[in-house]
Parts: sequence; C-alpha cells; structure tokens
Amino acid sequence: MTDFILAIDQGTTSTRSILFDRSYKAAGVGQMEFTQHFPQSGWVEHEAEDLWTTTLETARTAISKAGISSEQIAAIGITNQRETALVWDKRTGKAIHKAIVWQDRRTAGHCARLRDEGHADLVAERTGLLIDPYFSATKIAWLLDNVSGAREAAEAGHLAFGTVDSWLVYKLTGGRRHVIDVTNASRTMLCNIGNATWDDDLLKLFNIPSSMLPEILSNIDEFGTTDPALFGSPIAIRGVAGDQQAAVIGQACFRPGMMKSTYGTGCFALLNTGTDRVASKNRLLTTIAYRLDGDIHYALEGSIFIAGAAVQWLRDGLKMIGEASETAELAAKADPGQRVYLVPAFTGMGAPWWDAEARGAMFGMTRNTGPAEFARAALESVCFQTRDLLGAMRKDWPGQADTLLRVDGGMSANDWTMQRLADILGVAVDRSTSTEVTALGAAWLAGHGAGIWPDQQGFAAEWHRDRQFTPAMDASNRDELLAGWDSAVRCTLGFGK
Ligand code: G3P
Repeated sequence: MTDFILAIDQGTTSTRSILFDRSYKAAGVGQMEFTQHFPQSGWVEHEAEDLWTTTLETARTAISKAGISSEQIAAIGITNQRETALVWDKRTGKAIHKAIVWQDRRTAGHCARLRDEGHADLVAERTGLLIDPYFSATKIAWLLDNVSGAREAAEAGHLAFGTVDSWLVYKLTGGRRHVIDVTNASRTMLCNIGNATWDDDLLKLFNIPSSMLPEILSNIDEFGTTDPALFGSPIAIRGVAGDQQAAVIGQACFRPGMMKSTYGTGCFALLNTGTDRVASKNRLLTTIAYRLDGDIHYALEGSIFIAGAAVQWLRDGLKMIGEASETAELAAKADPGQRVYLVPAFTGMGAPWWDAEARGAMFGMTRNTGPAEFARAALESVCFQTRDLLGAMRKDWPGQADTLLRVDGGMSANDWTMQRLADILGVAVDRSTSTEVTALGAAWLAGHGAGIWPDQQGFAAEWHRDRQFTPAMDASNRDELLAGWDSAVRCTLGFGK
C-alpha cells in the first residue's frame, strides 16, 4: 500500500525532507544545514553538490526514521528557495560554478543599466517583476560572462540553466529530466506570466540562449521518476512549487482575496488574486501563485528582508537576549509611554519601498529606553512592515483583500507579536495548527497528483486554526503609531548612499 508522500523542502540555509502519512502527519523528518559562501561583500553562493547531497541524505533519513520502504511512497513533492540560479554542463551533469543565491547583489550594476536604458516597463509587463538582482536572469548572464568558456558552451547547446527545483529533479531522475514548475519560472525574469512561456524578447535582452532553458510544467505534473539506484525503487515526482507559493497552497489560500505571510529570516506575504493578473502600481510583485488545472492563478507578493533577523540582531549582535523566545516577555514589559521605533533596514528596505540605500535606525530613545523597548521595537518593526505590504495590496486591488491573514514560519509562534500584528493591521491573524505548511503544500501537490489526497476543497477543509488573534487596538492609537513608523522609515531612505 502506497501510504506516504515525501516532501523535500530545499531552503536557503537548510534542507528538510518530511515523510507525510495519509492523515498529513509527519512520520519521519531529516534536516541538514549546509555551508553559505560569501566570496565578496553582497555575494552569496551555495555549492550545487551540497544542495543535492543534503537532499538525498535527508530524504533517506526521513524514510529510515519512518521505518518504511520506498515502495510505500506514492510520490515526491519538491519545494525550494526561489530565484537561486544554477548552470550545469549537460555532458557531465556538473555545475559550472556555485549557485548564485537569491540574496546575491553582484548584478546590481547590470540591473541599474537596464533600468536606465528604459527596459523596466517591458520587464514589468511580461514578468510582473521589477528589474532587480533578486531574480535569476542577470545571475545567469553573469555566469555566462564570467565563467571561462561558458558562453561558447551555452551557444553550442551544452549548458542547462535551472532553479533549485530543476537541479534537484535533474539529479533525482539521473539526469533524464530538465524541467521547472510555473512558480519557479515566474521568478526568473525570463517568463511571460500571461501564458507561462519563455519570452524571446527577454532572452534577447538578457543575452541568454533558449537552449539552456528547462521545460515549464504545472505544479501538479509528471516531473519524472527517481533513479532506482537512489531509494531502492523508483518514485514518481508529481508536485513542485517555489517555497512561498507552496506555503500559499499549504495554508489552503485558494480563494481570491486570501493572504498568507511567512515569517522566517525575512517575510514573504502573498495575496491570491485568482485568475486576475493584477499589475502593481505600488511596487509589489505580480507572480504566479499556481497552475493546477490549466488556469494560471496569480498573487501579489511583498517581500521584507528583515523579520526574524531583527530578533537575531538583538540576540547575536547586541547580546540583549539569550533566546529569541525571550522577546515576547520583554516586549510585554516595555513602557507604554515610550514611542521607540526600529527601522531594520540593515540591507536596505524591500517592498514597497525598494530602497537598497536605506540603513537601519532607532528612533525615539530616551534615558529610560532599555532592552524591553528594544525588544518591542524589533517585534513591532515586523508588524509595521507587514502593514506596509497590506496597505500596498489594498491600493493595488481595492476592496478585494480578505479581512484576515494566515501566518506561518518561526516567528508566528510568538503570541505577543501575532497579537500586535493583528492590532497594527486591524485584521484578524490566523495561525495554522501545522508548523510545516510549506512542506505540506508540496506534499499535497504530489499526493493529489498521485491520487491519494482530495482536491483543493477537500484539502482546504482539513486546514485547522491553532489560534486566532483579533485586533484589540483602537483606530486612533493605531493611526498614530503608523504615522510615527512612516516618518521613521522616510528618515532612513537613501541614508547609505
Ligand atoms: O524568494 C526567496 C525565498 O524563496 C527564500 O525562502 O525560506 O529559503 O528563505 P527561504
């Protein structure tokens, strides 16, 4: 009996594999961290082999911890850090360089040139994205232009590009498949999100040969079958999605207007806009949420660079706390009379500000300001930034966004922050009982594809709330706090120039 689904979650700092049983419970888990490479300031790389070996090892660990055999696995689902670019040689199956990670800023100059030359409208219209080093296209161009012999090899049809999902499918299938799913494709800056096809004008603009590109598949599709040498018997790969889109699915945000926000190091908020492709006028991204049954469903996305990282800064940088969890108790003790703001623009500000030159600052300190006010300011900064995203979403799609937000990720366990989030947003915040919504989303894609799990409605009915946080702050207090935040952010814009 094939009773299990293996979900692989290849993230920025670690790889996790989770074996889910038929009732969506984790039966076995494997997790490994891997080395981050920072060869220059602003550069971030991963060793392609590390991404693969940690995937294989954690998958084997999950299977052995569950005490099952590979014949009992109905299908594999994959979810992954998005935008990170890999190029490998089809003749050897080896990457020609380390992967360039989504956080890497080395192509900032290239992006600025393209913006100055007036290409922003074309890129936004076709891809829904802003021209930024975050996305894969300029990273691929950098690899072709900087790795010796790469451009000639690419022109001769020997090189393959892929995001992390493509690379893992390639390795899992013993090099037989070169594919990508629609959500990962939508983050490359090469994909026309109107019909989910590679765009010839963009390939020309970024000077990337089309022979390098993987075939674009839906989120539930035939991605290939694992090499029998890996797990004992072949397993079908039936579902793939980028990690933020997998969280939308794992949170069962299938109805237009539903929103989810995932709080890790940074934060990614996605609003499902259904088959409406809403073009942002407020510097959010339009992206593919999923394609399950033919129709493409879209989302508006806002990304915040520093969320949990602000708490890490209190712990590791300022050494004000020993454990991240202490912040909730400290924040609750903060002096209500002090208006202290932290703008955590340590690496610039993301959406909707998109200011790479902004730098962090604390505002409103007095002699009485101490660790409690710092903790409150750090936690509130996450709430204010989420409010900025929600505000931009409401302007982009008036009257349509839901009056509640589903949250997940490490920081969502912090009750004080989730209550403050509800207060500052003025909308209810729902926390799911599942602490693994991203992996669960990938698992559901594969399990539904393999026919062991129900359709969207059936899966959505299985979504359960752990706790709802309802807004308790009065509107005038909220407006005052927001006005203070807004002027604090404006002071930091362009500061690092
Ligand atoms: O867009 C980047 C995002 O997919 C990274 O997610 O969870 O690996 O930090 P994570």
